[in-house]
Amino acid sequence: MTRRSVLIGTGSALPKRAVSNAELAETVDTSDEWIVERSGIRQRYLADAQETTSSLGTAAAKAALAAAGLEGRDIDLIVLATATPDQTFPATATIVQDAIGANGGIAFDVAAVCSGFLYALGVADSMLRTGMASRALVIGSETFSRILDWEDRTTCVLFGDGAGAVVLEARETDDKTGAGILGSKLHADGAHNQLLYVDGGPSTTGEVGKVRMKGNQVFKHAVNNLADVLREVLELTETDAAAIDWVVPHQANARIIEGTARKLGLPMDRVIMTVDQHANTSAASVPLALDQAVRDGRIKPGQLVMLEAMGGGFTWGASLLRI
Ligand code: UT7
Repeated sequence: MTRRSVLIGTGSALPKRAVSNAELAETVDTSDEWIVERSGIRQRYLADAQETTSSLGTAAAKAALAAAGLEGRDIDLIVLATATPDQTFPATATIVQDAIGANGGIAFDVAAVCSGFLYALGVADSMLRTGMASRALVIGSETFSRILDWEDRTTCVLFGDGAGAVVLEARETDDKTGAGILGSKLHADGAHNQLLYVDGGPSTTGEVGKVRMKGNQVFKHAVNNLADVLREVLELTETDAAAIDWVVPHQANARIIEGTARKLGLPMDRVIMTVDQHANTSAASVPLALDQAVRDGRIKPGQLVMLEAMGGGFTWGASLLRI
């Protein structure tokens, strides 16, 4: 018998306000045509002053709990991925924990920017399998709009706000191909820090800072790193790419998603794409896309799903699970 982390619920939350490319072009020197052609983005959701990383994370967590038929008190581990916490400390996970009534369990944040959800999933999966916890909420939540420089058209048009969450339950199984997380790989390479970063922080400027990105250089690394890590996970889990029912990629750029799928010979009709609606929501993008595809019935129980992401650091990773 082995202990495996099984996904038993998904949820997501978006701010109320959707902002189209055309609306953005009223205040930013850009156009709908440029944004769609270069990134595939058509709109993004932007948080108002009352909508925070913890409030969006809490809404996503509640939706995931409802889908799993559970309540906050059933959860003994919360791992929340974010680059935009409510405060430097306490961890936003503890704010969500209190809001859903999961008090007393483990709760902490992880920072791996756009790969944050994959990192959080890896950490939660390890803790569930070693018996440190029995039911986990893994959340990706961001109010990325708070750290955007609205004068910098090369970054501000690309990002949005939102949150996604999954509930994982540790289960004993001897079925090697049954439901659960089958294998994950995570990487980081700090040599590329300066290609995607925030120009501030508590220990340096004392200010929150703004996102800076050399987009075209990030782009080149992204396709290669993602294709490599997907191959690693396929090898680790002894899975043929053709057996994958769905890929849920990080939603940064439609061209990166298409390029990665092409490298692995995966047809686009097996790839979940939400970048047009959500833009890049950093740590929230993978669980947001996953929840959308579960709720609209595309992703079904028994299917094999690959999650993947790449972001600042650089960090990147992938995880294969059977729903
Ligand atoms: O989630 C973390 C990982 N992040 C990513 O994966 C992002 C990766 N990068 C990208 O998605 C793409 O590189 C971008 C969408 C950011 C940019 O696309 P690109 O095809 O690499 O364009 P570029 O940066 O090479 O810029 C091309 C041109 C430039 O003008 P010149 O120098 O050729 O005259 C830019 O000044 O487009 C110009 N430009 C814009 N024009 C209108 C840059 N931003 C804009 C804009 N509107 N918003």
